[in-house]
Amino acid sequence: MLQFQRHRRLRQSANMRALVRETYLHKEDFIYPVFVLDGENVKNEVPSMPGVYQMSLDVLKEDIAEAVALGIKSVIVFGLPAEKDEVGSEAFCEHGIVQKAIHQIKGAHPELVVVADTCLCQYTSHGHCGTIENGIIQNDESLTLLAKTAVSQAKAGADIIAPSNMMDGFVSAIRGALDEAGFSHVPVMSYAVKYSSAFYGPFRDAAKGAPQFGDRKTYQMDPANRIEAMREAESDVVEGADFLMVKPALSYLDIIRDVKNNFSVPVVAYNVSGEYSMIKAAAQNGWINEKDMVLEMLTSMKRAGADLIITYHAKDAARWLDEGGL
Ligand code: PBG
Repeated sequence: MLQFQRHRRLRQSANMRALVRETYLHKEDFIYPVFVLDGENVKNEVPSMPGVYQMSLDVLKEDIAEAVALGIKSVIVFGLPAEKDEVGSEAFCEHGIVQKAIHQIKGAHPELVVVADTCLCQYTSHGHCGTIENGIIQNDESLTLLAKTAVSQAKAGADIIAPSNMMDGFVSAIRGALDEAGFSHVPVMSYAVKYSSAFYGPFRDAAKGAPQFGDRKTYQMDPANRIEAMREAESDVVEGADFLMVKPALSYLDIIRDVKNNFSVPVVAYNVSGEYSMIKAAAQNGWINEKDMVLEMLTSMKRAGADLIITYHAKDAARWLDEGGL
């Protein structure tokens, strides 16, 4: 008689499959990104990201209310300032667009966990994530501005500070500044393992933050590197990071698993703009089933080890989970 395992025994019905299912998506897993700008009644769809909008504060109010009604528990806020300058002053200005947005969201939904993306690239005229001297990014000077930005966001009511600029020492600088300003209770979600990726292209349309010269390769990581990701994560944990992020997600599931296996803090996957745009473009062409593909992708990120996922699909995914999920 043939000897083999009958794996299909556990796949023979939907309920049998449900009993042995290892990974579930929950609405609590999602962090919903929003892009805010000054003005009234502004709702600009980002051409490369159908369904994603740059919103003025009045439009944001409705959008956030809808997300909350769908069961979303957390949002991350990105700002498009009216003016940019060499040092990104609007990033740390008390009445900057992000500070106003955070204040408004917390006023309407005190229970919603508001994450502030802490970076300078959307605010600097040169589009880099730090200050520049003689064409060179100044690591340590940038930390001072980043720390100021984090404190201003915490003052506005941010529940979590998420530094994304990849300067060395950013967690330490931000943790110190938050503690000193009386925000020792505010956690830091570090974009610890952030690769220099072509998958950020559409975001740079959405947030108007493309570098005006050169690229980000001297601060973001080389996509070919795996061991280096452990060094980045390690230093951020030592400096006081409460969450570790891996970004992008889809092409970096191995790194998500490595971080999960090696560290005990919650792991966040950033399902970035390019990953979203690919799905949307294929769906618009009728080439794929968008719902099934998005839920499969998000589930694979959780299976890889992500505890949380920042995703532009958050509202759709929440609706699809209400319909019964995968
Ligand atoms: C800012 C920042 C970027 C993203 C999040 N924060 C852009 C970049 O580093 O170039 C990308 C997010 C996405 O692509 O969805 N530093």
